[in-house]
Amino acid sequence: MPFYCMTWSAARQGGGMDPAALLDLAVRLARDAGALALQMRAGVETLPTKSSPTDVVTAADRAVERLLVDGIRAARPGDGVLGEEGASDDGTTGVRWVVDPIDGTVNYLYGLPSWGVSVGVEVDGSAVAGAVFVPVRGELFTAVRGGGAFLDGRPIRCTSVTSLEQTLVATGFGYRVEQRRLQGAVVAELLTGVRDIRRYGCASLDLCAAAAGRVDAYYELDLNPWDHAAGALVAAEAGLVVTGTEGRPFAAPMAVVAAPSIAGPLVALLERLHAGR
Ligand code: IPD
Ligand code: CA
Ligand code: CA
Repeated sequence: MPFYCMTWSAARQGGGMDPAALLDLAVRLARDAGALALQMRAGVETLPTKSSPTDVVTAADRAVERLLVDGIRAARPGDGVLGEEGASDDGTTGVRWVVDPIDGTVNYLYGLPSWGVSVGVEVDGSAVAGAVFVPVRGELFTAVRGGGAFLDGRPIRCTSVTSLEQTLVATGFGYRVEQRRLQGAVVAELLTGVRDIRRYGCASLDLCAAAAGRVDAYYELDLNPWDHAAGALVAAEAGLVVTGTEGRPFAAPMAVVAAPSIAGPLVALLERLHAGR
């Protein structure tokens, strides 16, 4: 087909922006990164902390980000990259890779299984593909925009829980003390209105757990782009409502994913619990 006959989206795909091809690379990189992180787990070594004394970073976080960035640059020179450990480059192609080399570093440090490599891909600022690989469990969550969500190649779907009282809610806490004071006060109240609370310690996995129906909803205040770039797409493609509170977009600053059947009441409850705090 001559270029001038192609639709915009076909032209973009021909120009190296095919979401399926981007996902293939994201999966390959996430698996390689996960293997390196597992290898480095044996001699895990912490470096000086980041935003607060609880915000830990290991040599593996840095090495794994290096592997991801080198892999992206080798396969797709010119693409942008944003990574938690410092990679930041807008690139020239309209494609940007948003990576968290180890999401759930505290779990990684303690030998708990809930940590993963998160690789999200945006085209012109919109998420088009995402992979979250959880090495200890060997689980791979994937999605491309409009193509559904998958766990190890099998389609996944969110729950259809019907009441807040029966809603299992995952959440997470940031690293700053003030942030935690607010988050702790809110979750203490929320606990009395829902089935129970889960805290995996890995935001990308929280989002994928909701996608797989392992929890009914997840919320967290003040996530960073690398925490949700891949997982929020997986959640959306699994049928969850992906939104913020107070009419604001997702993660600006509140991130909520919820089964459609309880999204309205959950958002209203979160707004009430945050009001005036
Ligand atoms: C953290 C984890 C945690 C979430 C924090 C994140 P990190 O990421 O995802 O579950 O509650 O908000 O910062 O530091 O382990 O990559
Ligand atoms: Ca993270
Ligand atoms: Ca991280």
